[in-house]
Amino acid sequence: MRAKLIVGNWKMNGSRAGNATLLADIVAGLTGVITDQAPPACAVCVPSPYLQQCEEVLSGTPIAWGAQDVSVHCFGAFTGEVCAKMLSEFDCRYVIVGHSERRAYHMESSEMVASKALAALQEGMTPIVCVGETLEEREAGQTEAVVGAQLDAVLEQLDADAVARIVVAYEPVWAIGTGRNATPEMAQAVHAHLRSRIAVRNGEAAQRIAILYGGSMKPDNAAALLAQPDIDGGLIGGAALKAQDFLGIIRAAK
Ligand code: 13P
Repeated sequence: MRAKLIVGNWKMNGSRAGNATLLADIVAGLTGVITDQAPPACAVCVPSPYLQQCEEVLSGTPIAWGAQDVSVHCFGAFTGEVCAKMLSEFDCRYVIVGHSERRAYHMESSEMVASKALAALQEGMTPIVCVGETLEEREAGQTEAVVGAQLDAVLEQLDADAVARIVVAYEPVWAIGTGRNATPEMAQAVHAHLRSRIAVRNGEAAQRIAILYGGSMKPDNAAALLAQPDIDGGLIGGAALKAQDFLGIIRAAK
């Protein structure tokens, strides 16, 4: 059975003082939650300036940390970019790549997302590869074609071993920050489709890879989503900014 994975995506939120309180509350709240033999893994993906703070506060706790993006380049004259080697210096375990906000606001293509996933893997980090359709695409019956193509573009760049080392996140664009989540059945259907696309390349990896759901996941809808056979966790936006909500989702994943 796949262990559940709950990841907070803080997006461009936080402050040193606010983070200190939020992280302390999450760590304190986890005592008593992570006690059984198959605990949900959890992590927070934070703005790069706060990685050092996460490293200081979260080392030795059950919570891992990561970044929200990575450059396709290794080093050099790329003003504003942060490369994978820099992120790995802060012991990041995860890097989100291909979030729909980056695809939409920064014109990231699926090919670029694939390069970013590779860059993260090469530095020993786990890319969380995001895919998702817009409302227009869903209404046009294109969901599987859209998310399948987004995922295939990444899988094509990876050898069979590397395929086994990614995490996938299905985030319907219309569900992000809207309070409107996919129903468990809708999400399950897409997750099963994504797993079948992975199985074409590496059947064993397809059974092991975590496929997270993201899009208005909250404590009150998390249990039903996470009960689906192909939903292995959550990528949480707004609810990751409130300790009690984030902890509520982690509890639902137990
Ligand atoms: P919300 O949970 O705020 O809808 O955000 C989801 C998301 O985009 C996580 O990456």
